[in-house]
Amino acid sequence: MQIQVVKSSEVTFDDVESCLVVPVFERVFPLNSEVLREQDELTLQALVDKGSITGKARECFYVPSPNSLYHGVLSIGLGKKEDFTAETLRRAAGKACSLFSANRVQHVCLDVSRQEPISVEAFVEGVILGQYSFDVYKRQEEDAEHPPVKVEKITLAVANDADVEAIRIRCQLAAVMCLSANGARHLANTAANEMTPTALAEFAQGIAKEAACDCYVMEREEMEKRGMNALLGVAKGSSQPPKLIILHYRHSDASKTLALVGKGVTFDAGGLSLKPSNGMHEMKYDMCGAAAVLCTMMNVVELKPAVNVICVVPAVENKTGADAQTPGDIVRACNGTTIEVHNTDAEGRLVLADAMAYTVEEYHPDVLVDVATLTGACVVALGHYAAGLFTNNEDVCAALQAAGTQCDERVWPLPMWPDYEKLIEGEHADLCNIGPQGEAGTITAACFLKKFVDDTPWAHIDIAGTAWGGKNIDYLNPKFATGYGVRLLTHWLLAQAK
Ligand code: BES
Ligand code: ZN
Ligand code: MG
Repeated sequence: MQIQVVKSSEVTFDDVESCLVVPVFERVFPLNSEVLREQDELTLQALVDKGSITGKARECFYVPSPNSLYHGVLSIGLGKKEDFTAETLRRAAGKACSLFSANRVQHVCLDVSRQEPISVEAFVEGVILGQYSFDVYKRQEEDAEHPPVKVEKITLAVANDADVEAIRIRCQLAAVMCLSANGARHLANTAANEMTPTALAEFAQGIAKEAACDCYVMEREEMEKRGMNALLGVAKGSSQPPKLIILHYRHSDASKTLALVGKGVTFDAGGLSLKPSNGMHEMKYDMCGAAAVLCTMMNVVELKPAVNVICVVPAVENKTGADAQTPGDIVRACNGTTIEVHNTDAEGRLVLADAMAYTVEEYHPDVLVDVATLTGACVVALGHYAAGLFTNNEDVCAALQAAGTQCDERVWPLPMWPDYEKLIEGEHADLCNIGPQGEAGTITAACFLKKFVDDTPWAHIDIAGTAWGGKNIDYLNPKFATGYGVRLLTHWLLAQAK
């Protein structure tokens, strides 16, 4: 994606199909655009007079303009000025994508030159996320006269006294983050027969091409030596070998080390505690935490923040093979904690337990954040519109909430009072991997994870709801994974590096 920020007097259009985008606030007329040709201004004004263009949030109206420098005009509604947020623009841009696609637009120019400054990077985000599609498996009509095209260039036309360079940096950053988020969506959408633990590991190796970043993939043999039996127990039911993927990014000016751990269950059939077949196919998404942290590392390698980052992904498949872990099994994690496995479908916390204990012991991070599609109960509690946030540290909590607000990837704090911790005590072992059915399943899962970070400042983000399935978010097609977490974690890391 090519991004350009220019003063409105310097906007140019090339040969490709282009579209001028004019933002409209509700009841703020006449329309204001420096780039808009007078002819088109009259056309749009006529549409305003008719009541076709009102400026209501996300309203889109496309008008062809074959005789202008650009080929069409799109008005996008931004709602009431006093209610405006970046998310309004992001969603409007996402909604506009279907009109860009229908009109074969390859170059869009958003003209905000006569607006008060707004966060135009949200437009970039809305377009890049909005036009993502997972169609690599669909047969393309080879003889189609007009194969589909996408927007490849975004121009932001800003006021002549605007700080062009500052806006350019913000927009470029937005583009980097959203392209990586789309990368995470692609990993997640790819079916589990291809996106195996081995494939995830190969993807991670590709991120570590830069000198500042190393990749190490721990194999089963070493996991056995290290006593990672919680992770290995889950892997027993699958013929796919488990991988513990470790990416390490170092910066010479870093004063702290931050750890990201992502649940990488490439398919969760539930194991012997088998899931019902309705909707089981969606469990290819059970590696969305891994996708989020790995694609955040793509941003880290690109943006080079002044922190050290360690990224760890336990990658396994949870299946029902002949040697599958059996309800009642007791396993000892690498930190010595014993766990009774009463339900093999509560496997995320088992694989994370070893991954987190290992990360803490080996790297002593200043903060550890884990991201996981951990519990169905989280979808019950928060739906698809916020992730559950758990922390043992106020500062970490505030920093993640701030990052979430910055990029509109919402996190919402939930409690971990000792009463909940009681619920996961084991009968014959230190811990049990489930609490009583129907009782705060998201919280008890978080309490379980807490046992594996010692005193390390830590946050757990349960993305079971936000990783896929949300509706009415115009820039996130509900048919695909969302890439949730990439923008959140990147914003958080960048703020920590300051
Ligand atoms: N991967 C699931 C959680 C999940 C379910 C995420 C639905 C998104 C949508 C996880 O491994 C799981 O199966 N958790 C169990 C835990 C229970 C057995 C305590 C669950 O949520 O039912
Ligand atoms: Zn799972
Ligand atoms: Mg499960």
